[in-house]
Amino acid sequence: MSPSFTLVYILACVAAVFGAPGTKQAFPEDPEPINTVTECGGLIDTSSAALDFLVSGSIPAGTRCLWTVQAPYDHQRFILTSSGLGNTSSIYLTAYSSNAEPGIQQRVTTIGQNHTIVSNVVLVTLIVSENQIPIQQGFSLHFFSSGDAATTTLAGHASITAANGSFTYPAGGGQYPNDDHRLFTFARSGTPAPTIRFTRVDLESDSECSYDFIRTYVWFDNLYLQVARFCGSTIPPSFTIPDGLALLAFGSDSSVTGSGFTFEWE
Ligand SMILES: *[C@@H]1O[C@H](CO)[C@@H](O)[C@H](O)[C@H]1NC(C)=O
Ligand SMILES: *[C@@H]1O[C@H](CO)[C@@H](O)[C@H](O)[C@H]1NC(C)=O
Ligand SMILES: *[C@@H]1O[C@H](CO)[C@@H](O)[C@H](O)[C@H]1NC(C)=O
Repeated sequence: MSPSFTLVYILACVAAVFGAPGTKQAFPEDPEPINTVTECGGLIDTSSAALDFLVSGSIPAGTRCLWTVQAPYDHQRFILTSSGLGNTSSIYLTAYSSNAEPGIQQRVTTIGQNHTIVSNVVLVTLIVSENQIPIQQGFSLHFFSSGDAATTTLAGHASITAANGSFTYPAGGGQYPNDDHRLFTFARSGTPAPTIRFTRVDLESDSECSYDFIRTYVWFDNLYLQVARFCGSTIPPSFTIPDGLALLAFGSDSSVTGSGFTFEWE
C-alpha cells in the first residue's frame, strides 16, 4: 500500500470504530432509571436515577436541597415525571465543569419536558418558598446519562446540612494529593442565614490561584455566584449564605501540594 492509501485506510477504520458525527452515541441511556433517591441532597453517582423527593408527602416551607449528579457519560437528560410544587418553588439544573465552575443552567417547570445538560456533573437545586399556600407536595425527576465517556471526575464530595460545625480537608491530616478535585455542597433550610468562615488555608501559592485553588459560590439571584478564589495561606473574609445554598470547590494541579484547609459554619 502507498503511504497515502494507508492513511485513508486507517482513517476509515477509525471512523468505523468511533462513528461519524451524528451517528449512534457510544453509550446509550438506560431504558429505565436504575436507582431511586429519596433523601434531600447528596451525591448521586450513577448512570440513571429516579429522584423521588416527597412525591406524595408535603414539603416543609423553606426546604433547600442540593444534589450532585456525577454520571459516567457526558450528556444528561432530565425529565420531570410528576410534581406537586407550587409556582413559587423551583428546581434548577446547573452544569458543573472540570475547572470547578457552575455553567449553563435550566429551570425545570413542566412535566414531560426533556432538559439535556452536556456535562457529566450536574447540580440539582431545590428551593421551596418560605410562604406556601396551599401546601406543596414533592416531585419525581428522572435522569439518564448517555454519550461519550466523562471528562470530569470528582475525587471526593461531601454534602453539609448540619446547623453548625467544622470541616477539614484532608480529614486525617497530611498533604492533599496532586490532580485532586473535590466539591463540598452546603444546603441548609430555614433561618438565620448561615455564615462560613475559613480558619486555615495551606495550598500551593500563585498570584492567580490557577494551580491549586479553593473557589466559593453562593446562590444569589437564582445563580451560583463566585464569592472568592484563593490559595497559598490566604484566609478570605467570612461570608453569609443568604439563601442557605453554597458550593466550595477545591482543585490541585499536577505538582506541589499543601496541608489543605479548615472552615467552620454556623
Ligand atoms: C401562583 O399560583 C397561585 C394559585 O396557586 C396564583 O394565584 C398566582 O397567580 C400564581 N402566580 C404566578 C406568578 O403564576
Ligand atoms: C424526550 O427524550 C426521549 C429520549 O430521547 C424521547 O423518547 C422523548 O420523545 C422526548 N420527549 C419529548 C417531549 O421531547
Ligand atoms: C449547633 O447545633 C446544635 C444542633 O445541631 C445546637 O444544639 C447548638 O446549640 C449549635 N451551636 C451553636 C454554637 O450554634
